[in-house]
Amino acid sequence: MIVIGIDPGSIVTGIGIVQQTQMGLRLVTQCEIRTRAYRTFNDKLKKIYDEILKLVALYSPTHISLETIFFSNNVQSALKLGHVRGCVLALAISQNLNILEYSPKQVKRIITGNGNASKEQVAYMVRIKLHPSTSEFSRIAYGWWRLLSSDALSTKNIEKRINTCLENNITTFDHADIYGSYQCEAYFGRVLKQIPSLRNQIELVTKSGIKLVHPDFPERKRKIYDLHSTHIVQSLEASLRKFGTDYVDVLLIHRPNPLCDFEDCAKGLTSVVETGKAKYVGVSNFSAWEFETLQSFLSIQLVTNQLEISLCNLKSFTDGSLHKCIERRATPMAWSPLGGGKMLLEPYDELGRKRLDMLVMLSRKYECNITQLALAWLLLHPANILPIIGTNQTRRIAEASYAVQIKLGEEDWFELWEVSTGARIP
Ligand SMILES: NC(=O)c1ccc[n+]([C@@H]2O[C@H](COP(=O)([O-])OP(=O)(O)OC[C@H]3O[C@@H](n4cnc5c(N)ncnc54)[C@H](OP(=O)(O)O)[C@@H]3O)[C@@H](O)[C@H]2O)c1
Repeated sequence: MIVIGIDPGSIVTGIGIVQQTQMGLRLVTQCEIRTRAYRTFNDKLKKIYDEILKLVALYSPTHISLETIFFSNNVQSALKLGHVRGCVLALAISQNLNILEYSPKQVKRIITGNGNASKEQVAYMVRIKLHPSTSEFSRIAYGWWRLLSSDALSTKNIEKRINTCLENNITTFDHADIYGSYQCEAYFGRVLKQIPSLRNQIELVTKSGIKLVHPDFPERKRKIYDLHSTHIVQSLEASLRKFGTDYVDVLLIHRPNPLCDFEDCAKGLTSVVETGKAKYVGVSNFSAWEFETLQSFLSIQLVTNQLEISLCNLKSFTDGSLHKCIERRATPMAWSPLGGGKMLLEPYDELGRKRLDMLVMLSRKYECNITQLALAWLLLHPANILPIIGTNQTRRIAEASYAVQIKLGEEDWFELWEVSTGARIP
């Protein structure tokens, strides 16, 4: 079944096309029809009609789903909305589409459980696909890299931290085989083994590809990168044992390797997906061309590139790596989205001072704190950057999750861009 969902409007009409598959719902495409530039109302209706007709011809939906009309105080707007709906309904009838209608309250109830939820609460619940073919992940993820620098290593404390994340809609957890000198996954796994029902409530991301010198591997004389299929499979199997689960949601290649045999690396990634050990695969710290080279050896999609992205590290905005994600419909994940905390502390240079001053100024405007603002700045980017926060303080997890409710204005986005690059836009 393919459904074309339409949120009609006389200025912007939002469209999403979804397909019911054996794996669940899949987002086929989404777009907007903008009609502000059309002079007469009839021209706007014609534009909406023509564009939807093109989509129907292209994707052959069987159903059309429309939001029912709601009565606002503005009668003119309600009437115009009625005309747009009439135009869409006429098209649906002429194309023999089954018509489904939902009230805004029904939609809110389905997403949040409460029909009277605010727009902010709806935004708060929104989840994201890493690629149109994947299941959903939380809009902000939590990373366990710093776990061993905290003194809260008891299973009880880790469980508490996981629960704080879940209470704040953070369900995606980022790991790597090497974190905490190969120990972090095992600490996390103790909780998973105690509470097996947790596994279905979370998404696990882990990484492979770095070999550290470590007493468990006496044959290693120095740190190297190893992206051979055998290492990829073996390290994921070790991660699964530590987690006490039989699959991760995403396996990432941790870093590119100048000596990479891409064909063999692709063979390893394909094998972990085919054997069900990983639902999806992706990369981390890859340049655009490294991403494309590996993708060219794969028939499955790389669903993400986990990159260092923050107001302190803007490289990916201009080196093509973010744009490669957009081109490949892969959602980038941002590691150290707060610059590892350094952008929030006393700045050590002039640029840092100006950036912090701007963050403080804008945080007053948006009635939030600077952490939330720095994350909201990333969230506004059209690549749908998914930040991975790494605080060891539960209070800060809850605070950071509020960032998804802040919609930064584009002018303020550019203010932060300019102070962070240290240059006026031309
Ligand atoms: N793919 C890769 O190569 C790669 C590399 C690095 C990291 N990662 C992933 O990314 C995750 C996040 O990285 P990250 O930990 O660097 O992220 P981050 O959220 O940018 O930084 C976290 C650090 O910032 C500090 N911090 C947070 N809020 C603060 C505030 N208001 N004032 C002062 N300090 C503050 C935290 O200290 P407190 O603990 O005291 O709050 C913590 O030390 C990692 O856990 C890991 O999963 C991936």
